[in-house]
Amino acid sequence: MDESALLRQARDSDGHAVAALLDRTFGARPDQLTLFAAWLVDPNRRVLVAESSGKLIAVAVCSRLADPAIARYADITAELPSWLAGRVAGGLQVLAVAEHLRGQGLGLRLGNAMIGQLAEMGCEVAIGVSWDNGGAATSKGLYAAAGFGLLGRSAGFYAVEQRRSGQPCPYCGQPCRCVALLFARSIT
Ligand SMILES: CC(C)(COP(=O)(O)OP(=O)(O)OC[C@H]1O[C@@H](n2cnc3c(N)ncnc32)[C@H](O)[C@@H]1OP(=O)(O)O)[C@@H](O)C(=O)NCCC(=O)NCCS
Repeated sequence: MDESALLRQARDSDGHAVAALLDRTFGARPDQLTLFAAWLVDPNRRVLVAESSGKLIAVAVCSRLADPAIARYADITAELPSWLAGRVAGGLQVLAVAEHLRGQGLGLRLGNAMIGQLAEMGCEVAIGVSWDNGGAATSKGLYAAAGFGLLGRSAGFYAVEQRRSGQPCPYCGQPCRCVALLFARSIT
């Protein structure tokens, strides 16, 4: 595993590099920089980046979830398991590693770092959605390696997300037909 990249909290000056990586990975959206600025000042959210030789090579975003946000995940599976009920939940919301550096363990390092951040914010469980786009670079293996269990899948989740964000899916364009896989694990 490549341990050489430095993981740190994101700062204002990372905006353009973060936006470029996210646009390339998930499809361009015109408000990416505004969104990033809002993430940085949200007390319930943490934005981590990885850098190597002064270059930004990955970004990860997680947050403590309010109830309406959890309801959004419930769209993926009609029945959330009872062990999630009443527990403070955190979401792994964004994870992107630069194309040429994937498959070397950086995604898993960031995934585990986000669990640590969620624990610091008082979260008892972590929830995440894996983007199953048919490509090789998905987070399915990473979630399993980080101790998450699969709760459900949905073929309609990303089309709804896309209407909200306006991002054209790099795999299917519009509408997005990628499958969403819902994962969760206990933190405490
Ligand atoms: C998903 C993503 C963040 C994973 O990042 P990554 O750095 O490639 O992740 P890791 O290297 O930690 O793990 C990925 C795979 O490499 C394997 N791996 C980890 N370390 C390795 C090593 N030293 N040598 C070989 N393989 C290794 C992992 O077991 C995992 O394999 P699997 O997925 O086949 O089970 C990255 O592929 C990405 O940016 N994808 C596009 C965006 C995306 O889908 N983001 C997630 C949104 S839900």
